[in-house]
Amino acid sequence: MNTTDLSAFLPDDHHAAMEAAVTPVAAAMRGSMILKIAGEVRALAAKGQAVANFTVGDFRPAQFRVPSELSSGIQRKLKDGHTNYPPADGVPELKAAVARLVRRNWGVEVSADWVCVGSGARPPIYSAWRLFVEPGDRTVSFLPMWNTGYYAHLNGSIHEFVLTKAENDFFPTVEQVREAIRGARLVILNSPLNPTGTMIDPEVLRGIAQALVDENKGRERPCMMIFDQVYWAITAGGRPHSNPCALVPEATPYVVHIDAISKWMCATGLRVGWAILPPYLQVKMKALIGHMGAWAPRPEQLAAAELVDNPEALQAWFVTLNEQVSSRLNALYSGIAALREEGLPVDAIAPQGGIYLSFRVNLIGQGFDTNESIRRWLLDEAGVAVVPFQAFDMPGESGWFRMSIGAVGLDDIHGAVERLGAALRRL
Ligand SMILES: Cc1ncc(COP(=O)(O)O)c(C=O)c1O
Repeated sequence: MNTTDLSAFLPDDHHAAMEAAVTPVAAAMRGSMILKIAGEVRALAAKGQAVANFTVGDFRPAQFRVPSELSSGIQRKLKDGHTNYPPADGVPELKAAVARLVRRNWGVEVSADWVCVGSGARPPIYSAWRLFVEPGDRTVSFLPMWNTGYYAHLNGSIHEFVLTKAENDFFPTVEQVREAIRGARLVILNSPLNPTGTMIDPEVLRGIAQALVDENKGRERPCMMIFDQVYWAITAGGRPHSNPCALVPEATPYVVHIDAISKWMCATGLRVGWAILPPYLQVKMKALIGHMGAWAPRPEQLAAAELVDNPEALQAWFVTLNEQVSSRLNALYSGIAALREEGLPVDAIAPQGGIYLSFRVNLIGQGFDTNESIRRWLLDEAGVAVVPFQAFDMPGESGWFRMSIGAVGLDDIHGAVERLGAALRRL
């Protein structure tokens, strides 16, 4: 391929000159461990090896389609000419529909001017960090958790990662939160939790929301909370999702809810998400989203609004989606549980919510000394591709891994469990 030879325009060492152009924050950005692993999986599959890909937190369209109402709606809106800029904080139809959804689901009294739409959940999350955090501010999240380390790095905060325990389903205790948020500017909570597939106990969430209210009594700059609930509609056996502001309404001024159609409409590539936050903050977030140009496409917003605002159709869709997710997660969990019953060194936490399973391989100290060595062995010997909890900032060689069911079918799962059992028995 012919590309421009930059050395013609730059001093001798043009790499050094290019590196010097980059800010320290950008230079120190880490690449995604999950994407690196996904690349390895693709390479193995290309060689013809049987691999079940449990790595990506995404839906393979061959396994999970978006609701038909959504795809036909988008085509209709496109045909009707909805191709111009949407308002920076979202079309009024979607903002109103989201506010009604929140009132209907959790009884939290919000209106359309609380809603700020973006291109997926990420821009509202990033904007919330930009709204509240200055370099040197203290921020807090709990381990393991998806992506928080990157946002802390981008915002130059002094970030405290608080370690949780498997016996608490990888959620913090109220006391841990109370202690950690003292003097902090921002705390992040996510339930159902990526990467563990667990859901927070409502009483713990109530305690945490109350701790937030107590912390903010008399403080000049309050501690804010990002409550990321992008998986709320995907729960095992209809288990209800808890919301901090429904449990402790006094927490409402301090909570930014994050949501998106990405997960519960299997629509990660359509890029529609939103934050719900008090109107005086919403206006500031709107400005940030507007200047990033991170608004969601207009046809997608309008079509999503129609489905979000149709409780019967939405409910029917959730039944279908939960059947698809649960059948996969249950097959995976019961397969691993059977291997455990057989005396093989594996374990898992029963699925609660989201598209993930916490999977443990108890081989540390038994010929393996790192999660990475176990991960490679699982991939090479069993064709089982998983992501170690280190990708979610969790330190330590614990033997814990995330398995995602978004890219696999039941046949893949049965094959993977069979190969896993055979590989473990060969050890
Ligand atoms: C907990 C959580 N929040 C937010 C996101 C980002 O969602 P989006 O694709 O809408 O930006 C993800 C994606 O994996 C996630 O797991």
